[in-house]
Amino acid sequence: MHEPDWKRPLGEAFDQALAWLEGLPTRPVPGRAGLAELRAALGGPLPERPQDPREVVAELARAAEPGLVASGGGRYFGFVVGGATPAALAADWLTSTWDQNAGLYVLGPAASVVEEVAGAWLAELLGLPAGVSAGFVTGAQMANLTGLAIGLRQVLGRAGWDVDAAGLWGAPPVRVLAGQGRHGTVDRALRFLGVGSAAVVGVDADDQGRMRPGALAAALAGGGGPAIVCAQLGNVNSGAMDPVAELCRVGHDHGAWVHVDGAFGLWAAASPRLRHLVAGVGQADSWATDAHKLLNVPYDSGLVFCAHPQAHRAAMGIRSGYLVHGGGGERDPLDYHPEHSRRARGIPVYAALRALGRQGVADLVERCCRLAGRFADRLAAAGGVEVLNQVVFNQVLVRFRAPDGDHDAHTRRVVERVQGDGTCWMSGTTWQGRAAMRISVSNWSTDEADVDRAVAAILRCAEQ
Ligand SMILES: Cc1ncc(COP(=O)(O)O)c(C=O)c1O
Repeated sequence: MHEPDWKRPLGEAFDQALAWLEGLPTRPVPGRAGLAELRAALGGPLPERPQDPREVVAELARAAEPGLVASGGGRYFGFVVGGATPAALAADWLTSTWDQNAGLYVLGPAASVVEEVAGAWLAELLGLPAGVSAGFVTGAQMANLTGLAIGLRQVLGRAGWDVDAAGLWGAPPVRVLAGQGRHGTVDRALRFLGVGSAAVVGVDADDQGRMRPGALAAALAGGGGPAIVCAQLGNVNSGAMDPVAELCRVGHDHGAWVHVDGAFGLWAAASPRLRHLVAGVGQADSWATDAHKLLNVPYDSGLVFCAHPQAHRAAMGIRSGYLVHGGGGERDPLDYHPEHSRRARGIPVYAALRALGRQGVADLVERCCRLAGRFADRLAAAGGVEVLNQVVFNQVLVRFRAPDGDHDAHTRRVVERVQGDGTCWMSGTTWQGRAAMRISVSNWSTDEADVDRAVAAILRCAEQ
């Protein structure tokens, strides 16, 4: 048998990884290379001949390095991006090494059991009812798609329509009631499902982006037929949480399926100090969240949960002559997600939970939110800076006032300057028609010194 050399390429990868990780606190946050430079460094003709694997790894690392973003470091505040804790990262390496196809128990018994355990731990941590089913997916996009697919099947089933067999042609129209401040992945999931964005009834939200229960009740009462309510925990700009208990009650009173997009906000449930923000979350029917955001598991890692495991399996499952299914209570992961073959992405989640424990997860979430508050306090104390949102979680929206009165243009300029400065990175957004800088504190390693350095850089850029 050919004996491959594992040590040299893996040793090279280890050295490169360590250099990268140890450099995170000091390197500029954005990548420094432009498109042309990266294409030149990484491109060229398709190689004709094999190359030594260690050399491949070394050259790849050298060529990619100028185009890498230090998004795993403590001063990356863009979008809602987590880093990777040491245990999660190390377990992720093992996940690739073991290379289990985590679709069926028979393909990876340990992966299946790890996910069974991690799914139950997460449900407990996130305040979901005991016995909910869990699927490990790539992110909240696919978790939203999965939860909405289950809900669609259920509400149509109750209306006497078998969507599995008949599809949506001729089906009773389904209304999806979602807040005006919903995330775009909800509409995108509905597109993929063939429901279409025209089915979405945008429900009025308050000034923080929270869906109004009264408006939901009126919208539900204003029409009939099958309905899905899509609540949100964590507005992508303001971090605001929908009043989920009331939305569940109103939705269920009208026979709707209630799905919760809790990509990052659901993690409030893991903190005794913050869980009041998501009180009643366990009453929903399905939930989407991410582990690659506040849990700081490496990409990609999302989860879908369902209060009706049978419905979950019925919507996602597949049976085929050549597949070997568990017959004795074994969990076949493909019964819970749209993928067929897939990476055992529950393994790093399991390691993250073991390394942090209940207390560590609560501390992580609370630290991110406390530091978001520090950002808001320090920036608000400076002249010419306005904090636009109530900082209830890990998100801060900031606007910079211009002497000439064009605050939008000035705010966008400050965002650009900060991105060019390299001390930290955050993006811009439009909030209620006004330009804003959005700051998301989502990294496990961010500390007070990181925030203070970032604030100093922002104020420097605002004064230029
Ligand atoms: C509220 C919300 N839903 C869904 C998503 C999509 O998550 P992902 O990019 O992990 O699929 C995000 C991403 O930030 C989000 O904030």
